[in-house]
Amino acid sequence: MKAAAKVCANIALIKYWGKVSTALNIPAVGSISITLGNLWSETEVEFDESLPSDTLILDGQSRLDQLGRVTECLDLLRVRAGVEASARVVSHNNFPTGAGLASSASGLAALTIAAARALALELSPRSLSIIARQGSGSAARSIFGGFVEMHAGSTPDGSDSFAESLLAADTWPLEVVIAVTERGEKSVSSRAGMEQSALSSPYYSDWVATSTVDLDRGRRAVLGRDFEQLTNIAEHSCLKMHAVAMAAQPPLVYWNATTVACMHVIWDLRHSGVPVFFTIDAGPQLKAVCAPGFSQEVEKALRDVPGVLETLITGLGPGIIG
Ligand code: PMV
Repeated sequence: MKAAAKVCANIALIKYWGKVSTALNIPAVGSISITLGNLWSETEVEFDESLPSDTLILDGQSRLDQLGRVTECLDLLRVRAGVEASARVVSHNNFPTGAGLASSASGLAALTIAAARALALELSPRSLSIIARQGSGSAARSIFGGFVEMHAGSTPDGSDSFAESLLAADTWPLEVVIAVTERGEKSVSSRAGMEQSALSSPYYSDWVATSTVDLDRGRRAVLGRDFEQLTNIAEHSCLKMHAVAMAAQPPLVYWNATTVACMHVIWDLRHSGVPVFFTIDAGPQLKAVCAPGFSQEVEKALRDVPGVLETLITGLGPGIIG
């Protein structure tokens, strides 16, 4: 009862922020993401009757703080397999953990797949996506490669809240440059940030109400491979999500000065004709998405921004890579 999985991270271009059910982790809005080929989590799961409880080693360290959602996800699979044994989980990310670089997406997706393999459960990609969602909303999308749409769904049990493929990675090979502006883990998790926003941000209801229009525009831009339209809607969705968070009480500002400096660099590049836009998740890292062939030029510009500690370049990936 031991198996491993290696799964790529993803970043949302049309953002998910907020839940209708915390217990089942059902998102309040759908989302559209791209799966990143060079950023991955590798996770090994071993079910062992002699273990008193689940254990988690993440990047070499025991992580009790992250164990809750790991156990929640494992429980869903244990019930299906009729197994009660606890599991030893060892996971590793090849990029900074918990810093707004989508480590929960790849980590919880890899956990779901490794555990399903260890329990010899034959599950469809859709079922895996539904289970991964309950570990982390964004993990539901990492089951698939390329461009992915996550449906918020409308059933109270979350059975229609899953991700599916929108467009294959090689059909429109966009490139991504990540500017790392801080290495530490973020102080407010996306889970807590979403809750705080839903409870106290006056803009939260408008965020939810306008999400279907944003999704329609994003889906059309992806399917039509229209970079300009994708630029407009993706930056709008990102800035709207952050505006909702900033207006929460207490406020949530995930950016630092370097994040903002990088935003201006991206706008300057675009005004000079480079097809590039940015997106930012619940952390201070900026992700620049560019049309095929432009990542070197964008990387050079971001690398020179004072405060940028490191840059990572990646193409789109297939989701499950091992
Ligand atoms: O599912 P989580 O907890 O990884 O939350 C994801 C939230 C954002 O990254 C900010 C947006 C998104 O859609 O990935």
